[in-house]
Amino acid sequence: MAMKRIFLLGALLLAAAVHSKADEGMWLPSLISQRIADMQAKGLKLSAEDLYSVNSSSLKDAIVLFGSGCTGELVSDEGLLFTNHHCGYSFIQSHSSVEHDYLKDGFWALNRSEELPNPGLTVRFLERMDDVTALVLKGVTSKLDQEKQAALIKKNIDNIVQKESNKEKGITAQVNALYYGNQYFLYVFKVYRDVRLVGAPPSSIGKFGGETDNWMWPRHTGDFSIFRIYADKNGNPADYSPDNIPLRPKKSFTISRSGVKEGDFTFVYGCPGSTQEYVHSEDVRYIQDVSDPEKIALRTIRLNLMKKYMDQSQAVRIQYSSKYASVANAWKKWQGEEKGLRKNRVVPVKQDYEARFEAWAAGTRFEGITQRLAQLYAARNPIFRAYEYYRETVLTIEKLQMARNPRFNKKDYYQPIDEEIFVAMMTAFDQSLDDVYKPQFFLDRRGQYSSMEAWKDAVFASEDEAKALADALNDFFYASIAPPVAELNQSINLVYRDYMQGQMEFERERSFYPDANLTLRVAYGHVKGYRPADAIYYQPVSTLRGIIEKDNPDIFDYNIPQALRDIYNEGGYEDQPVCFLATNHTTGGNSGSPVLNAEGNLIGINFDRVWEGTMSDLVFDPEICRNISLDVRYLLFIIDKIGHAGYLLDEMHFAE
Ligand code: ARG
Ligand code: GLU
Repeated sequence: MAMKRIFLLGALLLAAAVHSKADEGMWLPSLISQRIADMQAKGLKLSAEDLYSVNSSSLKDAIVLFGSGCTGELVSDEGLLFTNHHCGYSFIQSHSSVEHDYLKDGFWALNRSEELPNPGLTVRFLERMDDVTALVLKGVTSKLDQEKQAALIKKNIDNIVQKESNKEKGITAQVNALYYGNQYFLYVFKVYRDVRLVGAPPSSIGKFGGETDNWMWPRHTGDFSIFRIYADKNGNPADYSPDNIPLRPKKSFTISRSGVKEGDFTFVYGCPGSTQEYVHSEDVRYIQDVSDPEKIALRTIRLNLMKKYMDQSQAVRIQYSSKYASVANAWKKWQGEEKGLRKNRVVPVKQDYEARFEAWAAGTRFEGITQRLAQLYAARNPIFRAYEYYRETVLTIEKLQMARNPRFNKKDYYQPIDEEIFVAMMTAFDQSLDDVYKPQFFLDRRGQYSSMEAWKDAVFASEDEAKALADALNDFFYASIAPPVAELNQSINLVYRDYMQGQMEFERERSFYPDANLTLRVAYGHVKGYRPADAIYYQPVSTLRGIIEKDNPDIFDYNIPQALRDIYNEGGYEDQPVCFLATNHTTGGNSGSPVLNAEGNLIGINFDRVWEGTMSDLVFDPEICRNISLDVRYLLFIIDKIGHAGYLLDEMHFAE
């Protein structure tokens, strides 16, 4: 049974290797030969071996997973690396103080000895990836029950990982399931842990436009920062040491200064985090009608409370700017996603697809699978809603986090915000969830206090009271909410394993790509504007002129450095390109990814998507889904004109 399944999938994936109509997809680098003809037809001048090879150096050797959730790319033979400003943000922040405010003023190491180490920061190079499906599914048959199957799969994976990891120092391995466990890949990485900060623009450039412009076009953010990877004398990973030397990478990108124009072929090579392109209409309906709207409403309350105090005090604004940004980021994305799902009628379109699927599946082993999924979602959604509520309400209260975590960072804490958040979030939690989802301690205390205000006063007056409430909520969440959610999700995923096969057999001429899972992928498309609404067309390239148009010393997010105004006023820089749009299919994790032209030269750094297209995590609409990249020429301009760090350009390679 299991063997049959593997064989079948291989055949289906090969059958799918035809031209795709749209620029949708995040493709596996090691199987890029299946896409290369389509890429070349659309403009690529490279071969599959240029993109991915285990025997000789290829573009994949110039790309890293930066930290835990971003991408970075090598741009010199001395370990120099580009990523986004928002990816380097916490490291830049950790080096900042009142005397040296690198977030505000920017930072430029004048020489190697000024580069700043970042304990805890790692970068991972992919050495190779292999299809290990047969090894992972060895001995797994449908005669075993679900739990035994899962246990055997886990054991097989552990064996593979252990064998690979012990081969060489600095090597780590992992096995990831693709297509809901229809295919498994081994990923072998080399992990470097001495990574130093080399340069960053001031936030007024690197975060220009702040939350107002986030997820939006036209965009003018110089969202980059620069790091350098260090290794021991033999080029191997090592802990930080002043004796370490800059890494000589197997490969680094050549930078193109010839720019982009509408229609140009581009591709993005990076680590997209998570997508769900093949899910059932019931999951989309839950996201669109329940999850997104409720989470947006809860975050609106928290953001308004933070903003009220941030507007009153400069000190509070600094303390909460990072927290505000992270709450606002997903909040804004969900709004675009919900709107996009509705506008594209994704639920009815999927329902129609499921009806056609079932008509086709009648009499096969796939019959009834979509109904089974609908039933499982009906069972999961109420408790999953409770799970999401915990995470968006009571678990966000800092007082309760502090009560359980002695290492909580109190430096960036402002109690009046937290007190108001306590009252608002505890109230929302209590009013929106059935009592079965609440711990007995919560119900008891609720009966004792005359109001939520009174309860709040007691919690903020007594460490014991805070700890008792925090423990009760956390214990209940981890004992009674999270486990059933995990179990139901596991059952759902098992059904998806079959549904995925069914979809592949049902649509034999469709190109299937695996959902994103923070492993290396290739997305390709072309530079293109879009129509966000009736009568509006957005051009795909923004310029310095637009920065000057937005410039406003009275608005924090639009107050550019005086030096940039002065340069502009000299004249001649109006058309300096800043950002551009393309149709590449990307998601969170692709931040910092190299954006490449037909020759494979670096033309930009990916950092965002347009708001109207954020439903691409569920459904990609080629009309409206766009990734946003920083034009590498703006990065070079800022290094030179604002950072006065033109010496960094000396180690980069430029295409003529
Ligand atoms: N929206 C981008 C991403 O998802 C950038 C986020 C950081 N920038 C910000 N203004 N919050 O991560
Ligand atoms: N800014 C996102 C990141 O940090 C990329 C935007 C997206 O496509 O979700 O990965």
